[in-house]
Amino acid sequence: MRTVVMVSGGGTNLQAILDAVSDGTITNTEICGVISNRADAYALTRAAEAGIPGVCVSRKAYGTREEFENALLAAVDSFAPDLIVLAGFLVIIPKEMIRRYERRIINIHPSLIPSFCGDGFYGLHVHERVLERGVKVTGATVHFVDEGTDTGPILLQKAVAIQPDDTPEVLQRRVMEQAEWIILPQAIDAIANNRIRRDANGNFFIMN
Ligand code: GRF
Repeated sequence: MRTVVMVSGGGTNLQAILDAVSDGTITNTEICGVISNRADAYALTRAAEAGIPGVCVSRKAYGTREEFENALLAAVDSFAPDLIVLAGFLVIIPKEMIRRYERRIINIHPSLIPSFCGDGFYGLHVHERVLERGVKVTGATVHFVDEGTDTGPILLQKAVAIQPDDTPEVLQRRVMEQAEWIILPQAIDAIANNRIRRDANGNFFIMN
């Protein structure tokens, strides 16, 4: 399964995917390209070190948003992916891309959707809100991407306990280590090996 990973930052989720392909946790999958909207994203360095083509499509390089979105979609198309993985990608996905790759785009969000998600809930902001609210459990969610923000059908979730005196940074790291970096590779492997099922309620499950 040809897979493109879209990134904006440090690429720790990308690294977890690359490591999972290397150690056989993910099978039947080729990471054929990495696309970032930021030239300085360390994720591009991780791609280069893994010998994977990396492409930067920066909004600043285009006069209009439409030109940027067309360039982003052209970059995705150039890899002819079967699956697109948003791994810390902080750009709203163009509607045309959602249509063209319907049910073939997944996203990792660092909370238990529908809590702490939607506009403004990204990166550390998620964990700041979690600690402000005082919830005892948070976690991460893999979901299919639709035209909303973090609103697509949920595929996989994993819970993480909050500890006393957690800081947003400490909590973010725990959610990454104990949830994101585990469920994103699991979801990719399940899709690559046709182990996704929909139940009578229309909800998605991974079959082991
Ligand atoms: C992190 O906030 C992570 O929780 C979210 O995207 C951000 C960047 O992750 N999924 P990464 O290190 O670039 O994968």
